[in-house]
Amino acid sequence: MHADRRPIINLIFAAMSTSLTERDRKVIWHPYTQHKTILPPIPVVKGKGTLLYDDKGRSYIDAISSWWVSIHGHGNSYIAERIYKQATELEQVIFTGFTHEPAVELAERLLSILPGDFSRIFYSDNGSTAVEVAIKMAIQYWSNKGEKRNRILAFHDSYHGDTFGAMSVSERSLFTAPFNDYLFEVVFIDTPTPDNIYELLSIVRKEGPSIAGFIYEPLVQGAGGMRMYEAGLLDQLLAEIAGQGVLCIADEVMTGFGRTGRLFAGEYLRHRADIMCLSKGLTGGTMALGVTAATQRLFEAFLSDDRRKTLFHGHSFTANPIACAASLASLDLLLEESNLQRIRHIGLRHEAFLEKLALYPVVKNARATGTILAFELDAGEDGYINAVGPSITKEALARGIYLRPLGNTVYFMPPYCITENEMDQVYHFLVHSIVSYS
Ligand SMILES: Cc1ncc(COP(=O)(O)O)c(C=O)c1O
Repeated sequence: MHADRRPIINLIFAAMSTSLTERDRKVIWHPYTQHKTILPPIPVVKGKGTLLYDDKGRSYIDAISSWWVSIHGHGNSYIAERIYKQATELEQVIFTGFTHEPAVELAERLLSILPGDFSRIFYSDNGSTAVEVAIKMAIQYWSNKGEKRNRILAFHDSYHGDTFGAMSVSERSLFTAPFNDYLFEVVFIDTPTPDNIYELLSIVRKEGPSIAGFIYEPLVQGAGGMRMYEAGLLDQLLAEIAGQGVLCIADEVMTGFGRTGRLFAGEYLRHRADIMCLSKGLTGGTMALGVTAATQRLFEAFLSDDRRKTLFHGHSFTANPIACAASLASLDLLLEESNLQRIRHIGLRHEAFLEKLALYPVVKNARATGTILAFELDAGEDGYINAVGPSITKEALARGIYLRPLGNTVYFMPPYCITENEMDQVYHFLVHSIVSYS
């Protein structure tokens, strides 16, 4: 059936071929893109709410919030006005020796809502840099204290970003293969299940004393395949890990800002992290910004008359005022009661859809956490390289929906402003697609 549809899809893509597409193909190197086989990129000229519009006026429901960032949808005028105002007041200033209102206010507001005893906010540029900073904080914490703990503990199937430190603490995979020899050694353990929890606890007891920090994506491992695991088991593991003196680093780059149904996935846990990484939804998907939050205990380990104990890390755009202003506006919208209700509502609709998915044997492991719905299609080998992903993306685009499965893992992670009708369209497409694989 997919082969039959190809001519129509080719026609659609041919029709989309514009001078912008041609110009793009000559000069742009896209992320995660095999340029030899990729179809021409779609020229997007506008975004409003959940919809992206191409140059022919066709609209696409952004069913994955543009790589999980656009939590309030596109073209939000409230955030846009705050960005404009900030850009005309102070667009950028070096962040050592200077400070500014948006950076301080954002830090104050984040500290007041983050689950944990965090007391400091370190700004960087994106999720990967937020993770780099976290790893450096954890390793240098022990070095500043004169203790030899230099290994990192992480979960299998984790994804923490594409820079070298972030790749090192991520699962060795297709993404990291050419670089594996250059990545530092990490102790990897499985995510906890009722069957393996005691084994994991004993690994932690054995390895714990040499470990500086443990990095984890709480409740949902995103790029690793939207793998979901239980808060209670994670709590058990965190208690043992923290008991060994290991610093706990919660990577909430994807799960933060409402994604899991609560503001942060850490709210489902009793155990509090020592370091937290945030990005993606932080600015409502409008600007690049990363945050690494740290506790006072951590911060104090860097206070010294000896300048060598300084955290020597920074980026040209650290705490960019426009990005901070965008984040403040995004937080306003996020915390509105009507928005929190939308988040809960999306979660309920996902739960209801899961019951429907149970009817199809081709659907494996259907699951949902908050606004994230995911399942595997039983079609070929599991994993990122499975051709189901690109095929569903094409089919969905032809129906005015943007989905980007991770191999045969199909997921739906909408902006919170998605309408009922738009949700229906996506669910309807998912059923159509499941039927075609049945
Ligand atoms: C959990 C997690 N950490 C870190 C990153 C890296 O973020 P960025 O793409 O902004 O570098 C991602 C990106 O998907 C992520 O999901």
